[in-house]
Amino acid sequence: MKTADLRQAFFDYFQHQGHTVVPSSSLVPADDPTLLFTNAGMNQFKDVFLGREQRDYSRATTAQKCVRAGGKHNDLENVGYTARHHTFFEMLGNFSFGDYFKADAIRFAWTFLTGDDWLGLPKEKLWVTVYASDDEAYNIWVNDMGVPEERMVRIGDNKGAPYASDNFWQMGDTGPCGPCTEIFFDHGPDVAGGPPGSPEEDGDRYIEIWNVVFMQYNRTAEGDMLPLPKPSVDTGMGLERIAAVLQGVHSNYEIDLFENLLKAASEVLGGVATTEASLRVVADHIRSCAFLIADGVMPSNEGRGFVLRRIIRRAARHGNKLGAQGPFFHKLVGALVNLMGEAYPELARTQAQIEKVLLQEEEQFAKTLDKGLRLLEQDIAELEGTTIPGETIFTLYDTYGFPVDLTNDIARERGLTLDYEGYEKAMNDQRERARAASKFGIDYNAGLKLEGKTEFTGYENVDGRESVRTVIVGGEERTATAGEEAMVVLEKTPFYAESGGQVGDTGLLTWEGGRFEVTDTRKEGDNHLHIGKVLEGALAVGEVVEARVDHARRQATALNHSATHLLHAALRKVLGEHVSQKGSLVDPDKLRFDFSHFEAVTADELKEIEHQVNQQILANTPVETEITDMERAQQKGAMALFGEKYGDSVRVLSMGTDAYSVELCGGTHVSRTGDIGLLKVISEGGISSGVRRIEAVTGFNALAWVDESDRKLREAAQLVKGTRDSLLEKVQSTLERNRQLEKEMEQLKAKLASSAGSDLAASAVEVKGFKVVAAELEGADRKTLMDTADQLKNKLGEGVVVLASIEDGKVTLVAGVTKSATSKVKAGDLMKHLTAQVGGKGGGRPDMAQGGGTEPEKLPAALQGVAGWVDENLS
Ligand code: ALA
Repeated sequence: MKTADLRQAFFDYFQHQGHTVVPSSSLVPADDPTLLFTNAGMNQFKDVFLGREQRDYSRATTAQKCVRAGGKHNDLENVGYTARHHTFFEMLGNFSFGDYFKADAIRFAWTFLTGDDWLGLPKEKLWVTVYASDDEAYNIWVNDMGVPEERMVRIGDNKGAPYASDNFWQMGDTGPCGPCTEIFFDHGPDVAGGPPGSPEEDGDRYIEIWNVVFMQYNRTAEGDMLPLPKPSVDTGMGLERIAAVLQGVHSNYEIDLFENLLKAASEVLGGVATTEASLRVVADHIRSCAFLIADGVMPSNEGRGFVLRRIIRRAARHGNKLGAQGPFFHKLVGALVNLMGEAYPELARTQAQIEKVLLQEEEQFAKTLDKGLRLLEQDIAELEGTTIPGETIFTLYDTYGFPVDLTNDIARERGLTLDYEGYEKAMNDQRERARAASKFGIDYNAGLKLEGKTEFTGYENVDGRESVRTVIVGGEERTATAGEEAMVVLEKTPFYAESGGQVGDTGLLTWEGGRFEVTDTRKEGDNHLHIGKVLEGALAVGEVVEARVDHARRQATALNHSATHLLHAALRKVLGEHVSQKGSLVDPDKLRFDFSHFEAVTADELKEIEHQVNQQILANTPVETEITDMERAQQKGAMALFGEKYGDSVRVLSMGTDAYSVELCGGTHVSRTGDIGLLKVISEGGISSGVRRIEAVTGFNALAWVDESDRKLREAAQLVKGTRDSLLEKVQSTLERNRQLEKEMEQLKAKLASSAGSDLAASAVEVKGFKVVAAELEGADRKTLMDTADQLKNKLGEGVVVLASIEDGKVTLVAGVTKSATSKVKAGDLMKHLTAQVGGKGGGRPDMAQGGGTEPEKLPAALQGVAGWVDENLS
């Protein structure tokens, strides 16, 4: 059965059992800071399991894109070396949200795997594990499914802590979890490995194919296991593994999909054998890299982007091992799109972008690889002993992205070893620094458990009378007194809490006898936290306060936020649809917008972007908001952001002529585009590979910026004695005059040198019929010294000239010998003699030599000694 047919059969079976087929979610988890990448089918249902979100179905089935290459479930290092690990894989799953539980979940899995109408696997090849204390599951397997007890294995807490077990599944350190039962397939005695729970279980013989989790708890950050509202089911079956079983092969890399991918990789790499471990690494990695980029991840030096970068570099290095000449990885995207583009249209849609990102990253890595190799060579050359220091390994890793195993490869070739301990230490120091850095800024949410929901009234109002629900001082709920810093939750509030790049509101809460200054507003779950300080009086729960947002600041922020939407739209219209938002900051002073784009934005493009935005501002159309559902929002063409989570109802913001900009947004905005007044882009530049940043100002800030530019222009005009209008001409003519003056100066210097030359000629002393001149020429540069020496030689007939000057504490020396005399005395020898005296080096031809030194105080003596030296050395 082909992999694609298998995916379909799974859907068919579970649809038949009343499940709704739900599309795979993005690899970038929506709004879930606990998770680096989507790593299981249940991720998108996390809140449904926790009872925080309702869906209109209670049974679902999916084929979910997963990446396990960082964070809790990390398989990166295994990939290529086992038959079953991948950075990217598809997980087939069925889910029950408080609907069926153990008996049905087990029956569904067993029927699909062994039923004649479905996969029809031989039952005697299947083994089952259960959590040690889960008698209920054990009995269902033995009594209802008829699995013989000799193929049943109970596994307890085998990972060193309660609930830490191969048969207790959890998504991450927190979140939904529960005991599980796993089904294993026995690939037969030809393959090495032992049954689950045995010491040889890590071999490739007994492969886990399906994990059925009985979701029962929510693990909190403190380690408490809170029961879920309703017992639920989450299952996961790796598509590649089950395909291997059905296609009668022992390795995932032999299934139809990988066979084709390996073939393509082999072609690109000049026909290497498809069984090479490095080729498998490449074939595996192209999937994770392409899918991650399709979901909006860009290579960078932190977080998700860093993991992506590491995977690309690992692929590039394995390609190099196979003899790749230049970038090759990006050439595999086409083959991947042919194989998976139908099931995952986002892949086909973004093919060109993926290829570009990979190519650029490959090229960049090739450069750092070069630099790193040079650094390593240098270190090796200077090495005393046979151990490469940890600091070097760390620098190579940290600065040049050199994987440690690469350094190790090179070291091995030279018979050297690595100081792993030193490396670990440098690494730990770095981690410590990072940890210390991340401690900056208070963790406002630590330990907070807030009930309820703050109603936000700030779209219409910037003030209101509201009652206080909670006051928190230093993590404790109590009355805040004058001078104390506190966080305040109101039932309703006009204060906008930081989100979507827009900063939180500031302002004042006042009540009878008291005032609280709000310096920031942030969100904690569904509540708005007013963060600040009691200026006067005491603030207690139940108090009714007058809440007043700093209106001017809010308004200035709104201009920037609305302008950001127009800018985003203009960027896409001018640069292309590949532009997507990578980050945004909107405060009262300016807006900052990061977006994906590959080259610098040209001056013309930038002008056009700014022009389009200002056209929209001048059109002064009303800004419209609509609360609707996701489907309608998409019909309207609203731009949504990767990694943002949108609830059932979304807020669609439209502005400009002909729906110029339509975006999902919860921020506060102007009422008409004209309110923005004016947009001025003040900078554009790259911040990481493929990501650019624009900063801009609006309204009075834009005006101030223009004023400031104008002032600078006028001052500059005054300096060159011109006007604003004649400034360019004036600057040009000033520069031209400068050039002329420089030229004249050169000529004068030459003249000066020649007259100095004739003066000096008169001062020559005679040594055995030779004329010798040795003098310091104040302020002369090297060229003048040379020219003067040349002229002197002409005048002397036969002789030796030494000229020197001192500048910035350094001596410059030239020595010349007339042609006819070079057989008797050599300028190079004389120079060596001189420079040795002034702490430097020098040398040259027999007729002309140069040098310098760092001890100018010794120059006079050196010059004085020239005649003597000539006397002694004349041959
Ligand atoms: N969530 C479970 C797993 O990933 C099914 O194995």
